[in-house]
Formats: sequence, structure tokens, C-alpha cells
Amino acid sequence: MTQNRYSDPDCAAIYRAIYERRDIPDPIDPKILVRLLDAAHHAPSVGFMQPWRFIRISCQNLRKAIHGLVEQERIRTAQALSEREDEFMKLKVEGIMECPVVLVAALCERRDQYVFGRRTLPEMDLASLACAIQNMWLAARAEGLGLGWVSMFEPEALKNLLNMPEDSQPIAILCLGHVEKFYDKPMLEQEQWEDRKDLNTLLFENTWDTPCR
Ligand SMILES: Cc1cc2nc3c(=O)[nH]c(=O)nc-3n(C[C@H](O)[C@H](O)[C@H](O)COP(=O)(O)O)c2cc1C
Repeated sequence: MTQNRYSDPDCAAIYRAIYERRDIPDPIDPKILVRLLDAAHHAPSVGFMQPWRFIRISCQNLRKAIHGLVEQERIRTAQALSEREDEFMKLKVEGIMECPVVLVAALCERRDQYVFGRRTLPEMDLASLACAIQNMWLAARAEGLGLGWVSMFEPEALKNLLNMPEDSQPIAILCLGHVEKFYDKPMLEQEQWEDRKDLNTLLFENTWDTPCR
């Protein structure tokens, strides 16, 4: 056991939030929202660039317009899925009009000036934003809240709607709220859309596709 290890209960709480975190979303205490945003802001980021920006959508008309964009993309996604179209249309893939808080998580403008850790892998800005959203997701679970990540939208259309700079990029629409019940398993697993892969099939030793012994 290393001296830096958390106590057993603290460790158990971290794993509990990881396993019980669920993607689904009545008013949210503003103090909790600040805590969640602060958790996001303490995520790791490449070169400490902190590329995340969060736009809170408090205007109802804007929320409706965002919902409209998502609905358009939901239909296009269904069409692209061809034989799974009907099955897809039955899934709940967003909660924009029902949830108490909608946030748009975005990458900031002028990211090219950040070279540290991004010279060969510029997408590490996106990885950093994903870490921030994951922090918020886990903190939300610990607070008893659900968070839905919606990625079905045309980014340019959302960027225009929110008056975002040309070189910024909206990445996620986050639907935050209280949930009646957290699913025991991912909803997509429960609805037989996809199964969780066996971890052993994802682990290699030394070279690609060589199973771990
Ligand atoms: C990058 C990313 C994008 C996602 N986009 C959507 C989405 O557009 N709509 C949706 O219903 N869920 C979306 N999800 C949620 C996943 O469907 C969900 O995380 C997955 O099914 C596993 O379920 P769990 O989060 O409850 O464990 C997204 C998740 C991630 C990480």
C-alpha cells in the first residue's frame, strides 16, 4: 500500500461514483451547480491549457432552438442507421426540454497557441474537455444527480446559435437533473442496443492483438 493511497472509505467512494454514474437526467440547488462546475474545472488538461468553456442556457427560446437542432440530427442519425432506424427512434437520447439545467460544453478559441502535448496530438484539447465533463459526471452522481451527454447536433449550427467564435467548438450539450432512479446498467445495454465488451478482449500485451497473459 502506498502512503499516498486514500483511506479505504474514500477509495470505495471513488469507485462507487465510477460504477454508479449514469447517463440520464426538478430545480437544482445553485450551490451544487457551482460545485459541479468547479469539479469540472479541476480536471487534468494538456499543458494545463484548461480549454473548457461552459455556456449555461437560461433562455427558454434558446433551449427550444437547441432542442430543434438535436431533433434534426436525431432523425438524420436514425436514417443513417438504416436497418436499426426504428429501434433507435424508440431510445431516449436527450432530455433537453425536461431537465432543469442545460449546459453547452465547448472548446475555447485560439487553441493553436498551445503546443505543449499537442504538437503531434492536437486532439488532446478534446481529451482534456472530456476529462472535465467526466469529473462533472462523477461529482453529479455523488450529489445524487443525473447528467445526460448529448452529442447529436450539427456543431456549426450550434456555434452560430450561441454566437461562438469561429475557432471555438461546441462539444456536448449537458442535461443535468434529478432522476427517479439510476439504471443498474447503461440504458443502451438494458435496451439491448449494445453489450459491455469483455475487458480481456480490450487488453493486449506488448503488441496489438496479443492477449494479456
Ligand atoms: C462522448 C459521448 C457522447 C454521448 N452522446 C450521447 C447522446 O448524444 N445521446 C445519449 O443519449 N447519450 C449519449 N452518451 C451517453 C452514452 O450513451 C452512455 O454513456 C453509454 O451508453 C453508457 O451508459 P452509462 O453512461 O449510463 O454508463 C454519450 C456519451 C459520451 C461519452
